[in-house]
Amino acid sequence: MNAPIGTSRIIHLGPSDDSYWGEIERDEMERALALAHTHGWRVAVREVLAGRYAHLREMVEGDARVDWLLLLPPGPRRILEIGSGWGQTSVLLACDPRHHVLALEQVRARAEFIALRRDQDGIANLDVACGDFLRAPIDTEAFDLVTMIGVLEWLGLASNDPPEQVQARGLARAHAALRPGGWLCIGIENRWGINNLLGARDHTGLRFTGVMPRPVADAYVRLRRPMYRVERAPAGYRTLTHSGAQLDRLLRAQGFREVQLWVSHPHYAQPRCLVPADNRALAQFFAHYRPRSIKDAVLSALMRGLGQIGLAAQLAPHFIVLAQR
Ligand SMILES: C[S@@+](CC[C@H](N)C(=O)[O-])C[C@H]1O[C@@H](n2cnc3c(N)ncnc32)[C@H](O)[C@@H]1O
Repeated sequence: MNAPIGTSRIIHLGPSDDSYWGEIERDEMERALALAHTHGWRVAVREVLAGRYAHLREMVEGDARVDWLLLLPPGPRRILEIGSGWGQTSVLLACDPRHHVLALEQVRARAEFIALRRDQDGIANLDVACGDFLRAPIDTEAFDLVTMIGVLEWLGLASNDPPEQVQARGLARAHAALRPGGWLCIGIENRWGINNLLGARDHTGLRFTGVMPRPVADAYVRLRRPMYRVERAPAGYRTLTHSGAQLDRLLRAQGFREVQLWVSHPHYAQPRCLVPADNRALAQFFAHYRPRSIKDAVLSALMRGLGQIGLAAQLAPHFIVLAQR
């Protein structure tokens, strides 16, 4: 990396622009930042993520967000979190004082928010960088762990090249950033998740685009021009998700030698239960699972049914993927 770590509040890595991506509108994010400055980041979250955004609180403050860490060998780690969002994954990873975390986020306001969290909570082992991972100067073989939680599927928006190529480039860069033996952790929806097949909104904000043949999805998105979490309509269908088998192929094509696929329940961003993506293991797990809410009861009943017909691994909604360089 060009910029020395720790000498500025935010490290600027590579070319940047003022494009915005967010679960909330840009002006609301600016209000969150202003409140975080004056009243602290927790007050900002409480004020801004209320009402129609209340469901985002778990993502920003949830304590189980990095439970997948227990699947990896323990030890001190240099960690790169790509696309850190509101920063919760980076903050939790930095709870272990033996870790050193670099949070890289392309949206300036989000990077600033993470830096405020870091400064207000006195987290010494967390650096925050603003930049596009596809273009940022990242040292090779510099990290023991790289994470892309809810990021691979959005990478296609960062370039005009075909989204398959952009994702492959992102995975190649993650591979290069890892030391040999280091791990990449991906959190992502399953393209063929039962929720998608039943009409959940895809990353376009539209229903069924994930499960359409790609050219059909592309034509449909060009026609509808949805602006979901962005300020400019994407040129076609660029937010690709994949099946577990496809993820395995994509990672191996970039040189990852071991790929582990886990079903993350209830969501990849809430990995409270991680079960190997294997029908027998999933059927056993959901036969005994006790749901935590009505929504969870519906989802786990679906998974139990899928387990009984041998399709739980293929149609599970969310994956955590661990890939070793
Ligand atoms: C769905 S959010 C996930 C945030 C966070 N990883 C989490 O799990 O809470 C995706 C994040 O990735 C960021 N992102 C997408 N493409 C990026 C890129 N090329 N470089 C850096 N960040 C990127 C977005 O700005 C956004 O904050």
